[in-house]
Amino acid sequence: MHASPFVTVVALLLLGARAEQTEQGEAALTDDTAQCAPYSIALVTNALSSFPTIGQPVLSIPANDTVALAKFNAITGIPNIAPKGVNGTLSNDTINNYPATDPDCWWTSSDCVTPKVSGLAPDISSVPEPRTLGYGFDDGPFCSHNEFYNYLSAQNQKATMFYIGTNVMWFPLQAQRAAADGHQICVHTWSHRAMTALTNEAAFAELYYTIQAIKLVTGVTPQCWRPPMGDVDDRIRYIASKLNLETILWKYDSFDWKVASGQATTADVTANYQSLITAVGAGTFDTVGAIMLTHELTNYTMQTAVDNYPKLAEAFDHLVPIAVAQNKTQPYAETNVTFPSFAAYVSSRSSGGSNSTSSSGAAGGSGSAKGSSPSSGSSQGTTGSSGAVSLQLSYASSGLVAALTLLGAILAL
Ligand SMILES: *[C@@H]1O[C@H](CO)[C@@H](O)[C@H](O)[C@H]1NC(C)=O
Ligand SMILES: *[C@@H]1O[C@H](CO)[C@@H](O)[C@H](O)[C@H]1NC(C)=O
Ligand SMILES: *[C@@H]1O[C@H](CO)[C@@H](O)[C@H](O)[C@H]1NC(C)=O
Ligand SMILES: *[C@@H]1O[C@H](CO)[C@@H](O)[C@H](O)[C@H]1NC(C)=O
Ligand SMILES: *[C@@H]1O[C@H](CO)[C@@H](O)[C@H](O)[C@H]1NC(C)=O
Ligand SMILES: *[C@@H]1O[C@H](CO)[C@@H](O)[C@H](O)[C@H]1NC(C)=O
Ligand SMILES: *[C@@H]1O[C@H](CO)[C@@H](O)[C@H](O)[C@H]1NC(C)=O
Ligand SMILES: [Zn+2]
Repeated sequence: MHASPFVTVVALLLLGARAEQTEQGEAALTDDTAQCAPYSIALVTNALSSFPTIGQPVLSIPANDTVALAKFNAITGIPNIAPKGVNGTLSNDTINNYPATDPDCWWTSSDCVTPKVSGLAPDISSVPEPRTLGYGFDDGPFCSHNEFYNYLSAQNQKATMFYIGTNVMWFPLQAQRAAADGHQICVHTWSHRAMTALTNEAAFAELYYTIQAIKLVTGVTPQCWRPPMGDVDDRIRYIASKLNLETILWKYDSFDWKVASGQATTADVTANYQSLITAVGAGTFDTVGAIMLTHELTNYTMQTAVDNYPKLAEAFDHLVPIAVAQNKTQPYAETNVTFPSFAAYVSSRSSGGSNSTSSSGAAGGSGSAKGSSPSSGSSQGTTGSSGAVSLQLSYASSGLVAALTLLGAILAL
């Protein structure tokens, strides 16, 4: 039987609708539903056999990935620290019985950022430049991030994006936008588990495949990562260091991620932003700058970032991506992709950059209430995850959960 012309036309239209979308095309969308409509691009579908299952933790390296296995097996000297749980979930026994002496420099227990195993670099939890905010967001790429990224572009503002590998595979064009816009991209693991509750091999895989995903989609190999929920110890730091990943944490938490699950109110988050701003005025960052935890996770977290941007930009002397605050002009393994030095970034902004309203050398140049928006009090109707193990870890993987809601639709294609 031949297909009728009608069927053929419909099929072609469908194919046309599904025809390869582009980064620019996706970036031009403003409707949230359209931004989040599932799509696939050949770059990713052709590479799926080289990746573990999207949307699931990588508990072991796939047996046929001989390259990854060889890289993992070449790592020697991993500190002999037992996993603090199973399959990426911390065990209450470990939490309750962990020694107060903090032998593993376990951030979850003690906020430790200075490793006890020799040879490991300290974590970055502040930026070296005074009166400067290392500006970054976790858990992206979120599908409908265009309003947020448009805003950053309009401010000529770059940031550091800590991307979840699974989200990169689902939303590759959104990830490409980050690179096109000049943001720095770092690793936030494949499936957003508690890393200290994974075996050596699983921890390696969570990092390795996220590096591979970012490299596949954006062309760059990141050299920085942030542990989900900050959950890192010297064993995990060591494995990350063997993948050339610098560990980046924070000292201030907006707790924007807690609002979706009802563990914090929007007023709490506003107060957290305000206390950071007050600290600038009090001279807290006069010798060393700040890093605050904020998220590309929901409309609420992104809108809150937008609403607070003018205030942060006025309070701090400079808002810069973390690599810029470190003078890392070659933040990726590919040395031909360069970032401005701190001095160059700051001078390009104070000389006007793309925003003629900027003044007084402040990074944002927007002292007015211009970033105001109608939705600062709203939060998305997401249920959020609950029932996690400890206070610090009560935030499971809402970024992934958001992505998971799309999986059914993608699989149905
Ligand atoms: C590796 O094995 C998985 C099944 O475990 C398969 O889906 C994938 O295609 C294989 N990859 C390659 C490159 O052969
Ligand atoms: C951990 O994951 C493995 C593989 O999926 C599974 O067989 C095992 O039951 C899990 N263990 C726990 C305690 O969840
Ligand atoms: C300058 O910044 C303001 C917000 O502070 C923004 O509304 C405006 O579009 C920007 N101008 C340019 C040219 O980017
Ligand atoms: C949040 O959602 C509102 C309502 O749809 C929209 O107007 C706004 O642009 C969104 N904000 C961001 C940052 O996406
Ligand atoms: C960045 O480089 C400038 C000189 O180019 C120097 O003054 C500044 O201290 C450096 N900052 C860091 C964090 O290395
Ligand atoms: C950088 O070099 C890589 C090869 O290592 C190449 O694929 C890429 O296109 C180059 N990027 C730029 C911006 O020149
Ligand atoms: C671990 O402790 C938390 C709170 O302390 C509790 O909610 C959770 O149910 C416990 N988990 C297990 C497996 O006992
Ligand atoms: Zn996260």
